[in-house]
This record gives sequence, structure tokens and C-alpha cells, in this order.
Amino acid sequence: MCADADSFTSESTFVDSLACLLMQVCKYISTRGYAADIKPQFPKFMKDPVFVAFSTQKGGAGKTTLTVLTAGYLYYVRGLKVLVVDCDYPQYSIKEMRDRDAEIIRLNASFRKSFYDQRERTGLDPYPVLLAKPEDALLKVKARLEAGEEYDVVLFDLPGTINHPGVAKTVSLMDYIFCPVAADKLILESSLAFAIKVRDEIKPLNGCSIKEMYMVWNLVDARERTDLYDAYEEVFEEQMLPTLKTRLPDTKRYRREGSKESSRPVFRSTLMPPDRRLLAGSRLVELVDEILAIINPDT
Ligand SMILES: Nc1ncnc2c1ncn2[C@@H]1O[C@H](COP(=O)(O)OP(=O)(O)O)[C@@H](O)[C@H]1O
Ligand SMILES: [Mg+2]
Repeated sequence: MCADADSFTSESTFVDSLACLLMQVCKYISTRGYAADIKPQFPKFMKDPVFVAFSTQKGGAGKTTLTVLTAGYLYYVRGLKVLVVDCDYPQYSIKEMRDRDAEIIRLNASFRKSFYDQRERTGLDPYPVLLAKPEDALLKVKARLEAGEEYDVVLFDLPGTINHPGVAKTVSLMDYIFCPVAADKLILESSLAFAIKVRDEIKPLNGCSIKEMYMVWNLVDARERTDLYDAYEEVFEEQMLPTLKTRLPDTKRYRREGSKESSRPVFRSTLMPPDRRLLAGSRLVELVDEILAIINPDT
């Protein structure tokens, strides 16, 4: 008998719940031929950017937040050429965030000063945010590359509708997928289901570009026992799904954007790097370093 949501993390039902979860997930991913026609036509350029997506089908796992924070750190701090492709049609939440950030620069003198100081110091204009429906994303990126734009890393924020052929195809054309997961029953089930679908139905397809896929813990509650996460990771491991070592804490700073009035340091922005004072303990630097070691954009 499956545990309910409340008892899911309690010790007594923990092992049963995991077994049950896996059974549910395996039942859920009945084979559907949605991605069978994948035939990527993406030519090689002189220097191919690495295509990366934080992707899963459940909203709320942190796809957009991790995309923006990783993009900001890679671009403004590490100096990599980054393109962000917002495919989360029709919400376009990164574009919305960019518009909010621009408005705050207009209205908040302290934020404006930080922005211009940073721009003078780095010589960098904000990284571009390209809007695309998921099925058009690769063609739009290709057009930019053909027009001579150069990028080290292209980050895609994809919608959670993997059953849509356009989304499945775009997922198949990523080089690396990082699948955010949290110790919440719905997110856990759905991220695991997503990763298994990618493993079983997308990766084997002819022309699929995915080199590696990793689970990544987000929204980790500091009070939660680490052996709980270790035990989940063992389940992922049994499913041949590796997990990043870096676990991202559930912390308010991940939601901390600029505001019209306040001059408090800002963590999540599309126009600025995360404020250095907020980096300690955020594990963002560890995340970016671990990702860079995997995707190796220099080679
Ligand atoms: N590590 C974190 N700590 C605290 N809040 C987070 C963290 N990661 C994401 N969030 C918050 O969780 C919510 C969902 O994140 P979001 O990035 O929008 O997820 P998705 O794009 O997968 O739907 C947002 O309110 C976001 O600010
Ligand atoms: Mg999102």
C-alpha cells in the first residue's frame, strides 16, 4: 500500500514509499511514441556552443531559477559567452524577469548605479534572452550562429510538457541535461519520471545529442536528514541516473530579486551577477564549478 504525502518522509514508511514511488513511476511512463520522429538537423559550427537545460516536467522544481543563476554567474563572473533561450511559452518567465529587472534599473537609483558600475568594470552588456516556442528554439539558435554570433554555452529554459513532440525533440538536442529534484513527493515522482523517459525514450533515438544527464537536488531543507537524500540518490543510482554532488539549499536568497525601493543586495537578476555577499552558503559557485567540469565548454 502506498504511503500518503504526509507519511512519505517518515522513517517507518520510507523504504516502502521509495519502492512504491518507483512502481508508480514505472507504470506512469508507459511507452508512448511521441518522440519517434526525431531527426535533428543541426550543422556543426567552427566552435559549437554547449547546449544545456535544467529540465524536468514539474513546475516549481527550480528550472527557471537555476537557469538564470547559472547564466548570470557564467556570464558576468566567469566571462563565458552565454545565450539564454526562454522556451517557456507562453509565460516566458525569464523574459518577464528581464523586463522587471530593466524596470527596477529605471526606478531604483542604487540598483542602477550597481548595474552601470558593473558594466563599466566588465565591459559586458547583458546576455541576450531569446524567446522561442520549444519547437522553434533550435532553428532560432542556429540562425544566430549562422549570423556569426558566438557562444560558449546556450541555456534553454524548457516548459514541463515533455509529451509534446516539439519539447521532446528540443530536449533530445541538448548536450547536457540537469534535472532538478526536491524532496517533495510530487516533484520527486515527476523528476524521476522525466529522467526515466529521457533515458529510455529519448536518449536511444538516432541523432539524440544528449551526452549526460544528472539529477540535481534543489530546495534542500537544512533540517532534513542527509541520509534521506543519500537514500533517494541510491534509488537514482539504481536507475542509472547520476546525481550532482552539490545540493542546493532552500533559502530565501534564491528568490531575492531587485525591488523598486530597497537597496538590499540582489541574488537573482538577469542583468547582474548574484551579489557576492549572498554567495556564501548558497552553493551556487559549487554548482557552477561542478557543471563546468562536466560540460567543459573550452574543448
Ligand atoms: N533553492 C531555492 N531556495 C528557495 N526558493 C527557491 C529555490 N529554487 C527555486 N526557488 C523558488 O521556487 C519557485 C519555483 O522555482 P522556479 O525556478 O520558478 O521553478 P520552475 O521553473 O521549475 O517552475 C520560485 O518561487 C523560486 O523562487
Ligand atoms: Mg519556470
